[in-house]
Amino acid sequence: MPATITSIAHYFPPDVYTNEYFEQYLDTSDEWITERTGIKERRFLKEGATSDLIVPAAKLCLERRGMKPEDVDCIIVATVTPDHMFPATACVVQNKLGIPNAWGFDLSAACSGFLFALVTAAKIVESGGARNVLLCGADKMSAIVDFEDRAQAVLFGDGAGVALIEKSDDPNLGILDHILYIDGEGGKYLYQAAGGSAKPASIETVKNREHYIHQEGQAVFKAAVKGMADVSVEIMEKNNLTKDDIAYLVPHQANLRIITATAQRMGISMDKVMVNIDKYANTTAATIPSCLSQWWEAGKLKKGDNLILASFGAGFTWGAVYMKWSM
Ligand code: COA
Repeated sequence: MPATITSIAHYFPPDVYTNEYFEQYLDTSDEWITERTGIKERRFLKEGATSDLIVPAAKLCLERRGMKPEDVDCIIVATVTPDHMFPATACVVQNKLGIPNAWGFDLSAACSGFLFALVTAAKIVESGGARNVLLCGADKMSAIVDFEDRAQAVLFGDGAGVALIEKSDDPNLGILDHILYIDGEGGKYLYQAAGGSAKPASIETVKNREHYIHQEGQAVFKAAVKGMADVSVEIMEKNNLTKDDIAYLVPHQANLRIITATAQRMGISMDKVMVNIDKYANTTAATIPSCLSQWWEAGKLKKGDNLILASFGAGFTWGAVYMKWSM
């Protein structure tokens, strides 16, 4: 049996920061941000860490499935903003939720984190390595964004999406196929320079602002448009899917122009594309699960819907998942 998503929930912190907030102190404008990115506002967590974004979403996810903490077998956290370099945020989440019998780990694939972790979780469940995986995609991007740099301050937000992965009871429903890629040549365009073993934290690294995101926007943009569109078309062709077969494209939310270009290449109209970048910006590992959760809550997802999940992120990392919705 394939694995599937049996419950889903999301959490965004309450504090809203509009484009006008940045206009007050940066040389930017609502018009530029809206036209170039599609973003109007985002949420930042004022106090707390990535695990504090995950916990409310995870509680709701388990509640929706009627599951108790003691029923969880495995926890995977996809994030580039872990609470600490170590221990893993999965351990922090396990402790905060009082889950007594689980193993787990963190997975680092930036904006593709949820997709890579979804495939990993599916394989663990399908092989019998666990009955279920509490799969968390979450990032507190405000912890690593340089708020003095207009080219990145406006792009990101904080949030979490949590899905429960279990075996499907129907062989035709669930996570049916995936295509995933990495290419380290792209690493030089999007990274956090210091804080790892290559460049441990020092007074110099702090002075040089090397603990913040470094992004060469145009290079990443070009690679993202090609990467996300190519892999989405590739998975459609591999599974003999036409544009009419697809209920929704669920793309990573980095830039509305990248999303639109992907939809155009797939030949699907924007009413079949999940978009929440306008309200929440790029929440990295949280974009795809939060979209799924919001669309499910709104009653717009039906059992049997064909979904293409697609992402592109730092690494470079990118890929697509084909699933038939089963809830
Ligand atoms: N407000 C106003 N002007 C801004 C600005 C802002 N917030 N940010 C950048 N600019 C300026 C630049 O300084 C530049 O000015 P110049 O021409 O005088 O040098 C101009 O706008 C164009 O900059 P550019 O970087 O070419 O813009 P862009 O159209 O490529 O858009 C991004 C910038 C970051 C929005 C876009 O490149 C992008 O989305 N990149 C990909 C992000 C991504 O996918 N990340 C991967 C996942 S995390």
